[in-house]
Amino acid sequence: MIKRFISKMSNVLETKILKVDPASIHFPEDAHLNGSLPTITDPISEKNLLEAAKIIRGNLEPVAFPTETVYGLGGSSLSDEAVKSIYRAKNRPSDNPLITHVSSIDQLNRKIYQEKHSSLFQNIPNSYHPLISKLWPGPLTILLPVPLKTSALSKLTTADQPTFAVRIPSNPIARALIALSDTPIAAPSANASTRPSPTMASHVYHDLKGRIPLILDGGPCKVGVESTVVDGLSKPPLLLRPGGFTYEQIVELGGQDWKDCRVERRKVVAEGEQVRTPGMKYKHYAPSAKVILLVPKPQRTDSDRIEELKRLISQELQNEDANTIKKLAILTSLHLGATEIQDLTVGDSKIKPIVVKLGNTGEEIQANLFAALRQVDEIDNVNLIFVEGISEDREGLAIMNRLRKAAGDHCVSF
Ligand code: TXA
Ligand code: MG
Repeated sequence: MIKRFISKMSNVLETKILKVDPASIHFPEDAHLNGSLPTITDPISEKNLLEAAKIIRGNLEPVAFPTETVYGLGGSSLSDEAVKSIYRAKNRPSDNPLITHVSSIDQLNRKIYQEKHSSLFQNIPNSYHPLISKLWPGPLTILLPVPLKTSALSKLTTADQPTFAVRIPSNPIARALIALSDTPIAAPSANASTRPSPTMASHVYHDLKGRIPLILDGGPCKVGVESTVVDGLSKPPLLLRPGGFTYEQIVELGGQDWKDCRVERRKVVAEGEQVRTPGMKYKHYAPSAKVILLVPKPQRTDSDRIEELKRLISQELQNEDANTIKKLAILTSLHLGATEIQDLTVGDSKIKPIVVKLGNTGEEIQANLFAALRQVDEIDNVNLIFVEGISEDREGLAIMNRLRKAAGDHCVSF
């Protein structure tokens, strides 16, 4: 049965935002292997991190913190109460499993497998070794079998699946919080369920104010989309969710086993089937405004694209009661020039859309995507958002995965 851990109205919390300077945190080179602690040169950052670590160890309320991908909402993976508090704050369905974040492989062995290890990598299948030796710490999440006898993991973390998802983040604030609390931290993105993921502390505050006690503010996230989730336990291996590392990087760096890595492309899961990748079953990344994804046709000229965009806008104006489209935003990437669409004549009307350039490269578009969707939706309060997509290779695979979910059925080629 799918439960939602409904929050009680009386539990309104004061949500503090505390700054941490990532540049003040220094880990020894092998800390992600052997679990050495960081030195923190800024006393205020250290104090704020220790305050967050104390809440994590208390297991009652979750803490939001930055990772290199998006802000996470964390609680101990080992505590049912802590995991329930995450689902409750986000209003997230409890059959959507969470990613566990560890600061080192030593911590994985000690805290999840509860073993004094004879060899560091004993709990990680060989198929993952080339990938994690090159990509950890970083935005790569792997699936491991839930340890049968000695697992300390809360079943709520895994949504009762036989595998669990784990990564070592590279953001120094995330790593320090996990290391200082010495707790594996389950952390989904720190947005309210169905909303775009947060890449700034202000996004978290917008969604979860009054529902969580603390947000650590470490500035904007560099990567901007969530980690890449891979399953190296199945043969051939499977890319379950495209993310911060590209499919091309996984195939290139993973060694022989990953040469024929497949990509999970199903959009929905069957009734009763467990959720393997987010958004297959639930609404995801969705602003309140209607989003229309413009999928570029390879052979078109850019002026043809602008004509097609005008036709689409005119169609929307006719379809909807014109009054409901009071404000329009266009998020552009590689083809639409911002100046050409600043003033558009559509039929008899002159239209002044809010135009946001997402970037000139896959990495830039990825880093700006969620913040731009939130800006036009939550601050500018537009009713309709057109987003220019890109081709689905390299960063484009993760970007289009998120945009297709944000747009739902509203995808048009242009
Ligand atoms: O970048 C990220 O991964 C961010 C930051 C905060 O680290 N976290 C994140 O977590 O995106 P979340 O909970 O939104 O994504 C969890 C997804 C699940 O929806 C599912 O696709 C996959 O990870 N996952 C987790 N456990 C799994 C499992 N046992 N089997 C298959 N997929 C799993
Ligand atoms: Mg999420």
